[in-house]
Order: sequence, then C-alpha cells, then structure tokens
Amino acid sequence: MRLPTAFALLPALALLWGCDKPPVARADAGRGDAEDGRTTVASLACGACHSIPGIRAADGTVGPSLAGLGNRNFIAGTLPNDPGTLAAFVRNAPSLVPGTAMPAMPLSEAQAIDVAAFLASLR
Ligand code: HEC
Repeated sequence: MRLPTAFALLPALALLWGCDKPPVARADAGRGDAEDGRTTVASLACGACHSIPGIRAADGTVGPSLAGLGNRNFIAGTLPNDPGTLAAFVRNAPSLVPGTAMPAMPLSEAQAIDVAAFLASLR
C-alpha cells in the first residue's frame, strides 16, 4: 500500500477505534435472570428516577421511562442495546456516557447482568 493511501485510511481507522467502548460485562451477559433482575431494580430504587413497568411505585421522571426498553436499538441515544453494553451501562453509566445524569449504581457484575435481562424483557 502506498503511503498516501495509508494516510487516507487514518480517519476511518480513528472512527473505528472511537467505537471501541470500554469493556462490557462478562462473556455470559445475555444469560441473566430477569426475575432476579426485577427484584434488584426494585430494591435499588431505580424507580425513583424511572417509570418502570412491573415495579410498584416506580414512577420517577428524572430519567426516561424504561417501558419497551427491550425494543430499542440504543441506550441513552448512543450505545448499542445489547446485553453486555446494557449491563455495563446500568452499573456505571458515566464510564460509557461521560456527563450523563444517570449515576453509577451499586451493582455487582452478576446483578447487572440480571438487571439487563429484566430490562430486555420490557417489550
Ligand atoms: C438519580 C436518577 C437515576 C437513578 C437512581 C437511575 N437512573 Fe437510569 N437514567 C437516569 C437518567 C437521567 C438517564 C438518561 C441518561 C442519558 O440519556 O444519558 C437514565 C438512563 C437509563 C437507561 C437508558 C434509558 C434509555 O431510554 O436509553 C437505563 C436502561 C437506565 N437508566 C436504567 C436504570 C436502572 C436499572 C437503575 C437502577 C439500578 C437506574 N437507571 C437508576 C437517571 C437515573
């Protein structure tokens, strides 16, 4: 490949690297227990900020409603809605979306995977 060609490719490579988000949760993301996730979501008061179907008194309006989250293509408008990314996001949103108002939440990795399974079940 001639040098000018290599330089021409640099912006494309930079774009690809830019898409390389921080590591997502462990490899078995996507095998979480939605029912356990529901219990965790209820106990962590996610509903203080979010309206969440199936969780009693979860009617917060600080963040977006989580209704139908399983049908959405993007998390927070920017991240791909796959189980690993969703688990990483609910655990530490600011590490993925700097400046976001969604706080890091005290979840173990396993709990985050269960929470992601619960959220994905919201259709
Ligand atoms: C202090 C308020 C607050 C708490 C508590 C909170 N969130 Fe959030 N959450 C937000 C805000 C604000 C956003 C919007 C973030 C953005 O778009 O950058 C958000 C975004 C999200 C999203 C992406 C929604 C979308 O439409 O893309 C998910 C999923 C989510 N939160 C899940 C949770 C879960 C699960 C918990 C509990 C473990 C939780 N949140 C606790 C404020 C909160």
